[in-house]
Amino acid sequence: MERIKVNLDKGRNDSYEIFIGREILDRLGLVVKVRNHADRYVIITDSGVNPLYGELVREKLNGANLPVDIIEIAAGEASKSMNTVLDVVSQLINLGASRKSLLVALGGGVVGDLTGFIASIYMRSVPYIQIPTTLVAQVDSSVGGKTGVDLPEGKNLLGTFYQPEGVFIELSFLKSLSDADFKNGLAEIIKYGIISDEEMFKLLEREHDAIVDQQPALMKNIVKRSCKIKAGIVEMDEREQGLRRILNFGHTLGHALEAASDYRLSHGEGVAIGMVGAAGISHKLDYLDQASYKRILNLIKQYGLPTQVPGDLETKKIVGFLASDKKVMDSKLHYVLVKKIGAPFVTDAVGVDVITDVIEELRQ
Ligand code: GLY
Repeated sequence: MERIKVNLDKGRNDSYEIFIGREILDRLGLVVKVRNHADRYVIITDSGVNPLYGELVREKLNGANLPVDIIEIAAGEASKSMNTVLDVVSQLINLGASRKSLLVALGGGVVGDLTGFIASIYMRSVPYIQIPTTLVAQVDSSVGGKTGVDLPEGKNLLGTFYQPEGVFIELSFLKSLSDADFKNGLAEIIKYGIISDEEMFKLLEREHDAIVDQQPALMKNIVKRSCKIKAGIVEMDEREQGLRRILNFGHTLGHALEAASDYRLSHGEGVAIGMVGAAGISHKLDYLDQASYKRILNLIKQYGLPTQVPGDLETKKIVGFLASDKKVMDSKLHYVLVKKIGAPFVTDAVGVDVITDVIEELRQ
């Protein structure tokens, strides 16, 4: 089992560990018990994950001789809402969950973000741990303490920064992922290669077949490297004042594409096209050479992720979503660009004409 320490503000005693490996849940009860003096555990999971892993995790926690309950929410992004928060909170109250209870997020990004949010506000906050079951959650959303729910006005508009007590990444869970969900996670792993780890980028280029076959040692390697990169960035900029923005490489355009497609494009697909767009802007503005741009494009293509803007998405509509993002989030849109593979930077100086040209160039 691999362990990565996330060292946060010492004054708040907020540091925690990420455990990565196979069959690591055998240690779950023990590790949780040693770290946390909870009076009961409540697993929050969804209708897709519960039948697969709910009882397994309950069994592992039972080893700590404390009551374990399971709350199931409906699978899907629609559950990331205040209605679900209120529903889960009343179930927690009915179960008798107190400030000494520990919540366990068992699932993908929706379950993780929702559970973290509830943990940050239930009875003025209770501890929680993350057991991510999708590749995106394992390499991205379970690490770093971003929590939240969506509002009709936009995604993730209510939320907190609230760190888990630990993250348990059980790699054998990846076997149950659909091909599409596996690719969504690969898009984030490719992102880490582009922004921070040229060696991993090369590994992804070289080992495509073994990675799509989920060869265990390679999966452990790339998940661990990704978590290490994310943990290192979060340690330096937990609340996204600056550096953490580089994790959004490909996401600015990616989110606009997802929204413009009415979420027909998955997050990973939006990010994949968004990364080609960000690399394209970097090249157009003379920061990135043509050969590196081509390598980024080819790697994304190699993993079966889309690299072109679907023909039915009008450029005006995509740019409109970029503008509304700008209004909601901040008065400026920050783009993450790259000078070379492994060397990102953030700028708010990308003109709408450049973005429009790049979107047009990425058309099918
Ligand atoms: N997913 C980007 C972040 O956690 O900052």
